Amino acid sequence: MTKIGILVGSLRKESFSKKIASNVAALFPEGYETECIEIGNLPFYNQDDDSENNVLPEYTAFRNKTKQFDAFLFVTPEYNRSVPAVLSNALDIGSRPYGASVWNGIPAAIISQSPGNLGGFGANHHLRQSLVCLNMPVVQQPEAYLSNAAALLDENGKVKNEGTVQFLQSFVDTFVGLIQKYQV
Ligand code: FNR
Repeated sequence: MTKIGILVGSLRKESFSKKIASNVAALFPEGYETECIEIGNLPFYNQDDDSENNVLPEYTAFRNKTKQFDAFLFVTPEYNRSVPAVLSNALDIGSRPYGASVWNGIPAAIISQSPGNLGGFGANHHLRQSLVCLNMPVVQQPEAYLSNAAALLDENGKVKNEGTVQFLQSFVDTFVGLIQKYQV
């Protein structure tokens, strides 16, 4: 079984990102399982709490959890044209200690969304910049910027537009192809 960890950049109960993430999770083929990784309970990263003899248990638990996954899907809104702090914080925690990053070499894909017209382009590309530094091979094409998110979803949180479902399926298929390339 190939395990996909999903990290969502919003803590909001009715988050569009969360709803989109659960639509996308359903599009993976047999042999793949997805799990949303909790990041809202993580303390802010502080290097003073991450020394050899003193590591915050929350950091250790998060690192041990993320090591179980074969790939990561990021679904995020844009905050002030960038990545929400909660997601950035999770990346920072997983990236340390230097040389032992949980992200290193793990395939990833990014979906950004916005209720506005720009589809979270700024967040998508700022996240991409960090994933380059973290040495994660990331799906390049298709790029996924979902705009007008409120109109995309029905009252049950399902993507209602068939064209968008098809686009998301092609995105997942490309991601699966990337993951397979990195599986030994
Ligand atoms: C936003 N929002 C927003 N939207 C956008 O398209 N570009 C942006 O730069 C921002 N900036 C921003 C900053 C902060 C602090 C908040 C709280 C919101 C609006 C945002 O896209 C909207 O609240 C989404 O609904 C957030 O995604 P979730 O929570 O629905 O997943």
